Amino acid sequence: MNVLVTGGSGFIGRWVVKKLLDAGYKVCVLDDLTNGRPENIAEFKDNPDFEFVLGDIRDKNLLREVFTDIDICIHAAAAINVQESIDDPQRHYDVNVNGTFNILETARKGDVKIVLIGTCMVYDLTASKAISEEHPLNPKSPYAGSKLAAENLALSYFHAYGLPVVITRPFNTYGPYQKSDMEGGVVSIFIRSLLDGETLKIFGDGTQTRDLLFVEDCAEFIVKAAFIEKAVGEVINGGSGKDIAIKDLAVLVCKDAERIRHIEHHHPQSEIPKLLCDYTKAKEMLGGMPKISLVEGIKLTEKWIENQKYEYELHVEGTR
Ligand SMILES: NC(=O)c1ccc[n+]([C@@H]2O[C@H](COP(=O)([O-])OP(=O)(O)OC[C@H]3O[C@@H](n4cnc5c(N)ncnc54)[C@H](O)[C@@H]3O)[C@@H](O)[C@H]2O)c1
Repeated sequence: MNVLVTGGSGFIGRWVVKKLLDAGYKVCVLDDLTNGRPENIAEFKDNPDFEFVLGDIRDKNLLREVFTDIDICIHAAAAINVQESIDDPQRHYDVNVNGTFNILETARKGDVKIVLIGTCMVYDLTASKAISEEHPLNPKSPYAGSKLAAENLALSYFHAYGLPVVITRPFNTYGPYQKSDMEGGVVSIFIRSLLDGETLKIFGDGTQTRDLLFVEDCAEFIVKAAFIEKAVGEVINGGSGKDIAIKDLAVLVCKDAERIRHIEHHHPQSEIPKLLCDYTKAKEMLGGMPKISLVEGIKLTEKWIENQKYEYELHVEGTR
């Protein structure tokens, strides 16, 4: 089977690619590298089952070429920066809505199954309980709005044309290959501050919670959803089913309360107080549970970031 992974040089995409190659599939990645990195997929470049195409999902001609002989498309490519989408929504609309439309139109012509990576950000996030797929929707940023539009378009292709479509909605995902600058996830940012000898900065009182899913578990969830027949036409949440307060996460990462500082939130009114995934549907439909505990996931991520830092220092030393 040939699988196309759009956005396969990005953080989650590269782990999806790895899972697919490990399982013996032929994988083609289409990525314009606007946020993905060649290093993320460097380990696959000599694998005869792997192909990389540099390009944009908004390029319809390129899509026609890339979709030749594809059985499944896992669509991870997206513009993902919430703040940037608020400051300038055009790119998020173009990539996430028009780009997904192009993917669906090309898939429709070749009857290619689409597995869309959505996001938990489409939900009403004022809830004080776990969020299931039945939870009300209320996208609060152009990022979330464009991702929901993409989902709705995809589901409309399932209903109108019978195109096999699966919608996955991962919650906060963390792990190796996630960026650790301010655009990265909270776990990577905390670990980076720890390794750089800086204080860990928490916005506000730190009682806000997140459901953190280790990226290999996230990739497994997405790949399972891609191959299990009964997932077709369904929306499925992916999370760990546990949430942790950011102030407790900071302690778990650095184990030294002295190194944690609370700072004023730029937009306290837009802070999400609780983010917890109800994972029941995924458990029942796809089987298996996330395997990596938060403690273990933090250790693996720390090891990876430390190694990156070491390689970077060697590189800088070599250029002196
Ligand atoms: N990281 C998370 O916690 C999280 C949580 C829920 C959902 N998601 C979703 O998962 C998917 C992957 O997110 P990620 O965190 O790996 O982000 P990422 O930015 O690392 O990956 C997205 C990839 O898409 C590529 N891309 C962007 N625009 C493109 C275009 N026009 N054409 C081709 N490629 C393009 C980027 O270069 C990047 O490699 C996204 O759809 C995102 O909405 C992420």
